[in-house]
Amino acid sequence: MASLNDIRSTFIDFFAREGHAAVDSSPLVPRNDPTLLFTNAGMVQFKNVFTGVESRDYNRAVTSQKCVRAGGKHNDLDNVGYTARHHTFFEMLGNFSFGDYFKEQAIDFAWRLITQDFGIAKDRLLVTVHKTDEEAAALWRKVAGLTDDRIIRIDSDDNWWRMGDTGPNGPCTEIFYDHGEHIPGGPPGSPDEDGDRFIEIWNLVFMQYETLADGTTRNLPKPSVDTGMGLERIGALLQGKHDNYDTDLMRDLIEASASTSGTDPDGPQNIHHRVIADHLRSTSFLIADGVLPSNEGRGYVLRRIMRRAMRHAHLLGTQDPLMHRLVPALVRQMGGHFPELGRAQPLIQETLLGEETKFRQTLDRGLRLLDDELARLPEGATLPGETAFRLYDTYGFPLDLTQDALREKKREVDTAGFDSAMAEQKAKARAAWSGSGEAADESVYFDIADRRGTTEFLGYDTESAEGEIVAIVADGAETDSATGDVQIVVNQTPFYAESGGQVGDSGTLTTATGTVRITDTRKKAGVFLHIGTVESGSVEVGQAAELVVDHARRGAIKANHSATHLLHEALRNHLGDHVVQRGSLNAADRLRFDFSHSKGLSLEEIAAVEREVNEYIRQNTAVTTRIMAPDDARDLGAQALFGEKYGDEVRVVSMGRAQTGKGTDKQTYSIELCGGTHVGMTGEIGLFVLIAEAASSSGVRRIEALTGEAARAYLAEQDRTVAEIAQALKAQRGDVIDRVRGLMEERRDLQKEVADLRRQLAMGGGASGGPAVEEVGGVQFLGQSLSGVSGKDLRGLIDEQKAKLGSGVVLLVADTGGKAAVAAGVTPDLTDRISAVDVVKAAAEALGGKGGGGRPDMAQAGGADPSKADEAIAAAKAVLA
Ligand code: ALA
Repeated sequence: MASLNDIRSTFIDFFAREGHAAVDSSPLVPRNDPTLLFTNAGMVQFKNVFTGVESRDYNRAVTSQKCVRAGGKHNDLDNVGYTARHHTFFEMLGNFSFGDYFKEQAIDFAWRLITQDFGIAKDRLLVTVHKTDEEAAALWRKVAGLTDDRIIRIDSDDNWWRMGDTGPNGPCTEIFYDHGEHIPGGPPGSPDEDGDRFIEIWNLVFMQYETLADGTTRNLPKPSVDTGMGLERIGALLQGKHDNYDTDLMRDLIEASASTSGTDPDGPQNIHHRVIADHLRSTSFLIADGVLPSNEGRGYVLRRIMRRAMRHAHLLGTQDPLMHRLVPALVRQMGGHFPELGRAQPLIQETLLGEETKFRQTLDRGLRLLDDELARLPEGATLPGETAFRLYDTYGFPLDLTQDALREKKREVDTAGFDSAMAEQKAKARAAWSGSGEAADESVYFDIADRRGTTEFLGYDTESAEGEIVAIVADGAETDSATGDVQIVVNQTPFYAESGGQVGDSGTLTTATGTVRITDTRKKAGVFLHIGTVESGSVEVGQAAELVVDHARRGAIKANHSATHLLHEALRNHLGDHVVQRGSLNAADRLRFDFSHSKGLSLEEIAAVEREVNEYIRQNTAVTTRIMAPDDARDLGAQALFGEKYGDEVRVVSMGRAQTGKGTDKQTYSIELCGGTHVGMTGEIGLFVLIAEAASSSGVRRIEALTGEAARAYLAEQDRTVAEIAQALKAQRGDVIDRVRGLMEERRDLQKEVADLRRQLAMGGGASGGPAVEEVGGVQFLGQSLSGVSGKDLRGLIDEQKAKLGSGVVLLVADTGGKAAVAAGVTPDLTDRISAVDVVKAAAEALGGKGGGGRPDMAQAGGADPSKADEAIAAAKAVLA
């Protein structure tokens, strides 16, 4: 029996032989389409190739595309488990022609593959065509030899395939398999077509049109082909089964669920195993493609699927979380063709375990509340919306989980009541916000959020994506189209909005009619504002926009942010656990980190911290992110920001392998709660250089540092400075420090020598000749004017001259560059008769100055006119006489 893996290979090999490029499945989160929640068909990754916006180096391709249909236009979630052919996750096999072959060749390929390679009996097959497509009907007669009774014209839109409300579309022809008269059901187009007798196996779409956002339709540049065949469905057929869940792959997962839970794979519990097997696939693939559970957007759809499965696991009677234990079976089955599954296995297991552990804490109580409510209501009555809302709000029951639980009891929920309870809660939250005194003019953003929901951030996984413009704000008010300075809100974006110290992204936003240079991104009321200037044309609400983040700048920001985490840990290791983050900035050109620590870091501490950060950069290990409950994160040793409020769940960023560290394995170097963007491997940081360390406020130090190219440029600059110094000193680089120290010492010695010489010279010469001692009023007096000395020098000179005289009075007048300084000294034996203060005051007055201060043995003053030195000396003598 051919396994699903074999059937996939047969399909891909067939078209590869026919000149098709075998292209990998694209991720489940469409990067090129803002209108789609998840990739729901094989053509999604080729949408822009069909419309001619993008070209590839092939014009025929074959894929097995991962698809999720849960939420959005194609939503199968509610039926999964209860029917034979509904899945939230499935693989779509498809061949594509981009303006290459068209109807005839497509029909020929399909017919040959299913009748020859798959060996399906021709007389079991019939087809439908769109009522307008006589050409396709004629080709079926010609190529496959089908008679007219086996070519059914469908009068409805069923045979017009469209991806969504907008995008490529065209008439399609579907191939059906007839299981035979013993199975109830009518042919397609008949009133009982929903029976199980006639099963659609392959849809061939003749892509010819594109529907635009304004509802108009245009021709595609070239007629193309898009086909889709569910692998699980064709697998069931080829394996002789009637139910997709009986195929080898699905059966293997069902048996894993049964054996792990110790229950019967069949019988009444089969329904739970089917839900679990299907949801295991969608949740695991979504996580592998970067979706993590959250309360909004895609993350919330993931959570809804997970919790639905977890309720069924609970119904199996398992005491412990179950889902994560089934991942190895899934990886065994599907990891070969989808290697991303194996790569993400630890993350998938951990996310499922975390979610199930958390959900089990409220699941029992929620189910009890539900039972109590139902018991109180009259038989068969609808569950009030308010109760469903309470289950949602308090117990984490998504609406579809409550509906699923009620389905078994043949009851329904008042969904209108649920919606109004939800709206009421939102209104309350908003009222609380506007009462909080924050800027009232921000209500425009709340209006946008209310109307269009919050912005979904794609930027953890991609730096470019398409988004739909849902609002434009200019001059503080909403507008439908804009030129000039704008704030643009899109439904999904790769741009990071400033938060947690990380600056907002910049880049470009382009629509069919204009280009906007985005200089910053901010977040208000949950919507991301792309702030910038329309550089050409104009942009309009409702347009699809191509958003491209400035890659180099984001790369530098990421490196700085990851380095900040390493720095934080290194500081704790070297300074102690009292080190707590007090603030940070992760910009493109540098990083800044404020932390609690009371004294400056020594050069040794700085060097040790810098060395340790660089060791973990060179270790080049993967940076991982997970979502978990705040308490679980703290148990792992995650650094949380002091005083910060966290929601139900936090994003946890880990990096580095340490001998002894944190985490479940006690070997993780850094674990922090963080919503920022980070490098994939620590090695991408390149280099870390700490350039400044200083006090920021009392008890808080601030470090500034550089990484990557900025760090290299900084070091190169430092290096050049040293080279220039060495050149100036005519020294080897290695000798520079010794040489500078030597020069400093020499300079000190020389300075001292110069001062001595200057004094000697001063006392040996001068305007009034050599020192002449005379007797005045019975004491020895020495008066002299000097040049080339400063006021500071006078005190020492006075002392020297007093010592030489033994007993007497000294007066020195110095010309200090246009001004005069004067000092007087009296030997101790004379101070009871003569005060130096009186002497200096008289001299200063002669010099055009006033005052003078000091002690009886030594006093100083200044004057305006140094040319009056002789008069000053005379005035001093007059005091003595
Ligand atoms: N895109 C087509 C489908 O999904 C083939 O059915």
